[in-house]
Amino acid sequence: MSKKTLIVGNWKMNLNTAGASLLMHRLHERIKIHRDIEVVLAPNLLVLQPISVQIDRRKFRLAAQNAYQKDEGPYTGEVSFTMLQDLVHYVIIGHSERRIHFNESLDEVRDKVAACVRNDLTPILCVGETHNDRKAGESKQVLHDQVTTALSNLTSQEVENMVIAYEPVWAISTFGGELAKPDLVKSEMDFIRKQVADLYGQKVSERVRILYGGSVDNNVVSGFLAIEGCDGVLVGGASLNYHKFSGIVDVAYKLGHNGDSDG
Ligand code: 13P
Repeated sequence: MSKKTLIVGNWKMNLNTAGASLLMHRLHERIKIHRDIEVVLAPNLLVLQPISVQIDRRKFRLAAQNAYQKDEGPYTGEVSFTMLQDLVHYVIIGHSERRIHFNESLDEVRDKVAACVRNDLTPILCVGETHNDRKAGESKQVLHDQVTTALSNLTSQEVENMVIAYEPVWAISTFGGELAKPDLVKSEMDFIRKQVADLYGQKVSERVRILYGGSVDNNVVSGFLAIEGCDGVLVGGASLNYHKFSGIVDVAYKLGHNGDSDG
Protein backbone atom coordinates (compact mmCIF):
# COMPACT_ATOMS: atom_id res chain seq x y z
CA MET A 1 0.00 0.00 0.00
CA SER A 2 1.49 3.35 -0.94
CA LYS A 3 1.53 5.98 1.76
CA LYS A 4 1.92 9.69 1.30
CA THR A 5 5.15 11.18 2.60
CA LEU A 6 4.25 13.32 5.57
CA ILE A 7 6.17 16.54 6.23
CA VAL A 8 5.08 18.15 9.50
CA GLY A 9 6.27 21.56 10.70
CA ASN A 10 6.04 21.90 14.47
CA TRP A 11 6.28 25.64 15.09
CA LYS A 12 6.37 25.04 18.86
CA MET A 13 5.90 28.19 21.00
CA ASN A 14 6.94 30.58 18.24
CA LEU A 15 5.24 33.20 16.05
CA ASN A 16 2.36 35.50 16.86
CA THR A 17 -0.62 35.70 14.51
CA ALA A 18 1.05 38.16 12.11
CA GLY A 19 4.27 36.14 11.97
CA ALA A 20 2.45 32.84 11.50
CA SER A 21 0.27 34.30 8.79
CA LEU A 22 3.28 35.69 6.92
CA LEU A 23 5.12 32.38 7.08
CA MET A 24 2.05 30.47 5.96
CA HIS A 25 1.57 32.78 2.97
CA ARG A 26 5.23 32.49 1.96
CA LEU A 27 5.03 28.70 2.15
CA HIS A 28 1.83 28.80 0.17
CA GLU A 29 3.52 30.69 -2.66
CA ARG A 30 6.55 28.44 -2.65
CA ILE A 31 5.13 24.94 -2.11
CA LYS A 32 3.34 23.16 -4.92
CA ILE A 33 0.66 20.55 -4.42
CA HIS A 34 2.16 17.09 -4.74
CA ARG A 35 -0.28 14.26 -4.67
CA ASP A 36 2.14 11.95 -2.88
CA ILE A 37 3.21 14.44 -0.23
CA GLU A 38 1.17 15.80 2.63
CA VAL A 39 2.38 18.98 4.30
CA VAL A 40 1.14 19.71 7.81
CA LEU A 41 1.64 22.87 9.86
CA ALA A 42 1.37 22.92 13.65
CA PRO A 43 1.08 26.51 14.94
CA ASN A 44 0.50 27.40 18.58
CA LEU A 45 -3.09 27.17 19.82
CA LEU A 46 -3.77 30.90 19.79
CA VAL A 47 -2.76 31.18 16.17
CA LEU A 48 -4.61 28.07 14.98
CA GLN A 49 -7.97 29.77 14.62
CA PRO A 50 -6.88 32.68 12.37
CA ILE A 51 -4.59 30.40 10.36
CA SER A 52 -7.38 27.90 9.87
CA VAL A 53 -9.48 30.45 8.00
CA GLN A 54 -6.58 31.65 5.82
CA ILE A 55 -5.05 28.34 4.91
CA ASP A 56 -5.43 26.62 1.55
CA ARG A 57 -6.54 23.17 2.62
CA ARG A 58 -5.59 21.66 -0.72
CA LYS A 59 -2.00 22.47 0.15
CA PHE A 60 -1.74 22.12 3.89
CA ARG A 61 -3.34 20.33 6.77
CA LEU A 62 -3.21 21.69 10.29
CA ALA A 63 -2.11 20.07 13.52
CA ALA A 64 -2.39 21.19 17.13
CA GLN A 65 0.63 20.73 19.36
CA ASN A 66 -1.31 19.42 22.35
CA ALA A 67 -4.81 19.13 23.82
CA TYR A 68 -6.45 17.97 27.03
CA GLN A 69 -7.95 14.52 27.33
CA LYS A 70 -11.33 15.50 28.82
CA ASP A 71 -13.89 16.75 26.32
CA GLU A 72 -15.17 19.65 28.48
CA GLY A 73 -15.52 20.76 32.08
CA PRO A 74 -13.77 22.55 34.93
CA TYR A 75 -10.19 22.36 33.62
CA THR A 76 -9.07 25.97 33.67
CA GLY A 77 -6.63 26.88 30.96
CA GLU A 78 -7.05 23.72 28.90
CA VAL A 79 -8.38 23.15 25.38
CA SER A 80 -9.97 19.80 24.49
CA PHE A 81 -9.66 17.62 21.42
CA THR A 82 -13.40 18.20 20.93
CA MET A 83 -12.76 21.94 20.58
CA LEU A 84 -10.14 21.30 17.90
CA GLN A 85 -12.36 19.12 15.73
CA ASP A 86 -13.21 21.72 13.10
CA LEU A 87 -9.77 23.30 13.09
CA VAL A 88 -7.22 20.54 12.70
CA HIS A 89 -6.71 17.12 11.20
CA TYR A 90 -3.84 16.02 13.47
CA VAL A 91 -2.78 16.55 17.07
CA ILE A 92 0.81 16.08 18.22
CA ILE A 93 0.73 14.06 21.44
CA GLY A 94 3.45 13.20 23.94
CA HIS A 95 6.15 15.45 22.50
CA SER A 96 9.29 15.11 24.64
CA GLU A 97 9.04 18.80 25.55
CA ARG A 98 5.64 18.07 27.11
CA ARG A 99 6.86 14.90 28.80
CA ILE A 100 9.90 16.73 30.21
CA HIS A 101 8.67 20.28 31.00
CA PHE A 102 5.05 19.45 31.83
CA ASN A 103 5.56 16.00 33.37
CA GLU A 104 3.21 14.24 30.99
CA SER A 105 3.14 10.64 32.11
CA LEU A 106 2.80 7.49 30.01
CA ASP A 107 -0.81 7.14 31.19
CA GLU A 108 -1.64 10.75 30.37
CA VAL A 109 -0.25 10.33 26.88
CA ARG A 110 -2.33 7.14 26.49
CA ASP A 111 -5.47 9.05 27.57
CA LYS A 112 -4.70 11.85 25.10
CA VAL A 113 -4.29 9.39 22.23
CA ALA A 114 -7.63 7.81 23.18
CA ALA A 115 -9.33 11.23 23.39
CA CYS A 116 -7.84 12.20 20.04
CA VAL A 117 -9.24 9.20 18.15
CA ARG A 118 -12.54 9.44 20.07
CA ASN A 119 -12.87 12.92 18.55
CA ASP A 120 -12.04 11.70 15.03
CA LEU A 121 -8.66 13.40 14.94
CA THR A 122 -5.39 11.71 14.00
CA PRO A 123 -2.69 11.48 16.67
CA ILE A 124 0.95 12.14 15.88
CA LEU A 125 2.36 10.26 18.85
CA CYS A 126 5.93 11.29 19.70
CA VAL A 127 8.28 8.79 21.30
CA GLY A 128 12.00 8.88 21.93
CA GLU A 129 14.71 8.21 24.45
CA THR A 130 16.88 10.74 26.28
CA HIS A 131 20.66 10.83 26.20
CA ASN A 132 20.72 9.21 29.65
CA ASP A 133 18.37 6.42 28.54
CA ARG A 134 20.70 5.68 25.65
CA LYS A 135 23.83 5.80 27.82
CA ALA A 136 22.20 3.39 30.26
CA GLY A 137 21.30 1.00 27.42
CA GLU A 138 17.60 1.54 28.05
CA SER A 139 16.50 3.06 24.75
CA LYS A 140 14.53 0.01 23.63
CA GLN A 141 12.80 -0.36 26.98
CA VAL A 142 11.80 3.32 26.93
CA LEU A 143 10.45 3.05 23.39
CA HIS A 144 8.64 -0.16 24.24
CA ASP A 145 6.95 1.45 27.27
CA GLN A 146 6.03 4.64 25.39
CA VAL A 147 4.58 2.80 22.40
CA THR A 148 2.75 -0.01 24.16
CA THR A 149 1.19 2.24 26.81
CA ALA A 150 0.05 4.85 24.31
CA LEU A 151 -1.52 2.25 22.01
CA SER A 152 -3.41 0.30 24.62
CA ASN A 153 -7.21 0.49 24.34
CA LEU A 154 -7.25 1.30 20.62
CA THR A 155 -8.73 -0.67 17.74
CA SER A 156 -6.58 -1.94 14.86
CA GLN A 157 -8.25 0.60 12.59
CA GLU A 158 -7.39 3.46 14.93
CA VAL A 159 -3.78 2.35 15.15
CA GLU A 160 -3.25 1.89 11.43
CA ASN A 161 -4.54 5.41 10.79
CA MET A 162 -2.29 7.09 13.31
CA VAL A 163 1.21 8.52 13.01
CA ILE A 164 4.15 7.79 15.29
CA ALA A 165 7.15 10.12 15.32
CA TYR A 166 10.48 8.80 16.52
CA GLU A 167 12.23 11.81 18.06
CA PRO A 168 15.33 10.94 20.09
CA VAL A 169 15.47 13.70 22.70
CA TRP A 170 19.26 14.02 22.42
CA ALA A 171 18.96 14.80 18.70
CA ILE A 172 16.37 17.59 18.97
CA SER A 173 17.45 21.15 18.11
CA THR A 174 21.16 20.40 18.01
CA PHE A 175 21.78 22.15 14.70
CA GLY A 176 25.48 21.89 14.00
CA GLY A 177 25.77 19.43 16.90
CA GLU A 178 24.90 15.78 17.32
CA LEU A 179 22.76 14.32 14.56
CA ALA A 180 21.19 10.89 14.75
CA LYS A 181 22.71 8.52 12.21
CA PRO A 182 20.23 7.05 9.71
CA ASP A 183 21.35 3.50 10.67
CA LEU A 184 20.40 4.11 14.26
CA VAL A 185 17.13 5.77 13.27
CA LYS A 186 16.27 2.79 11.08
CA SER A 187 16.95 0.35 13.87
CA GLU A 188 14.72 2.24 16.33
CA MET A 189 11.98 2.75 13.75
CA ASP A 190 12.01 -0.99 12.98
CA PHE A 191 11.76 -1.63 16.70
CA ILE A 192 8.76 0.71 17.01
CA ARG A 193 7.06 -1.00 14.08
CA LYS A 194 7.70 -4.36 15.72
CA GLN A 195 5.97 -3.16 18.91
CA VAL A 196 2.95 -2.27 16.80
CA ALA A 197 3.11 -5.68 15.05
CA ASP A 198 3.28 -7.50 18.38
CA LEU A 199 0.17 -5.67 19.58
CA TYR A 200 -1.91 -5.37 16.41
CA GLY A 201 -0.37 -7.65 13.78
CA GLN A 202 1.84 -7.25 10.74
CA LYS A 203 -0.69 -5.51 8.48
CA VAL A 204 -1.41 -2.73 10.96
CA SER A 205 2.30 -2.25 11.60
CA GLU A 206 2.94 -1.84 7.88
CA ARG A 207 0.17 0.73 7.54
CA VAL A 208 0.99 2.95 10.51
CA ARG A 209 3.09 5.91 9.41
CA ILE A 210 6.37 6.44 11.24
CA LEU A 211 8.22 9.76 11.01
CA TYR A 212 11.65 10.89 12.11
CA GLY A 213 12.22 14.13 14.01
CA GLY A 214 15.39 15.71 15.38
CA SER A 215 17.37 18.56 13.79
CA VAL A 216 15.99 17.86 10.33
CA ASP A 217 16.65 20.57 7.75
CA ASN A 218 16.86 20.77 3.97
CA ASN A 219 20.50 19.64 4.00
CA VAL A 220 20.11 16.44 6.00
CA VAL A 221 16.53 15.40 5.29
CA SER A 222 17.39 13.14 2.34
CA GLY A 223 19.34 10.78 4.63
CA PHE A 224 16.27 10.27 6.79
CA LEU A 225 13.69 10.07 4.02
CA ALA A 226 15.83 7.44 2.31
CA ILE A 227 15.46 5.09 5.30
CA GLU A 228 13.28 2.13 4.41
CA GLY A 229 10.12 2.43 6.47
CA CYS A 230 10.49 6.17 7.14
CA ASP A 231 7.20 7.79 6.09
CA GLY A 232 8.20 11.40 6.61
CA VAL A 233 9.68 13.92 9.02
CA LEU A 234 8.60 16.06 11.96
CA VAL A 235 10.50 19.32 11.74
CA GLY A 236 10.99 21.90 14.49
CA GLY A 237 13.46 24.77 14.03
CA ALA A 238 13.77 24.49 10.25
CA SER A 239 9.99 24.70 9.83
CA LEU A 240 10.16 28.35 10.95
CA ASN A 241 12.28 29.22 7.92
CA TYR A 242 10.38 29.06 4.67
CA HIS A 243 13.48 28.40 2.51
CA LYS A 244 14.47 25.47 4.68
CA PHE A 245 10.97 24.05 5.10
CA SER A 246 10.02 24.32 1.45
CA GLY A 247 13.48 22.89 0.64
CA ILE A 248 12.57 19.86 2.75
CA VAL A 249 9.36 19.43 0.75
CA ASP A 250 11.39 19.73 -2.49
CA VAL A 251 13.73 16.96 -1.35
CA ALA A 252 10.79 14.72 -0.43
CA TYR A 253 9.36 15.35 -3.88
CA LYS A 254 12.58 14.55 -5.70
CA LEU A 255 13.34 11.46 -3.64
CA GLY A 256 10.05 9.76 -3.63
CA HIS A 257 7.90 10.51 -6.53
CA ASN A 258 8.38 10.58 -10.26
CA GLY A 259 7.66 14.21 -10.87
CA ASP A 260 3.87 13.98 -10.71
CA SER A 261 2.37 17.22 -9.50
CA ASP A 262 -1.17 18.51 -9.32
CA GLY A 263 -0.39 22.17 -9.29
P1 13P B 1 14.08 20.35 15.74
O1 13P B 1 13.80 20.08 14.30
O2 13P B 1 14.23 21.78 16.09
O3 13P B 1 15.20 19.49 16.24
O4 13P B 1 12.78 19.86 16.56
C1 13P B 1 12.32 18.59 16.38
C2 13P B 1 11.04 18.48 17.07
O5 13P B 1 11.00 18.49 18.28
C3 13P B 1 9.82 18.43 16.24
O6 13P B 1 8.72 18.09 17.00
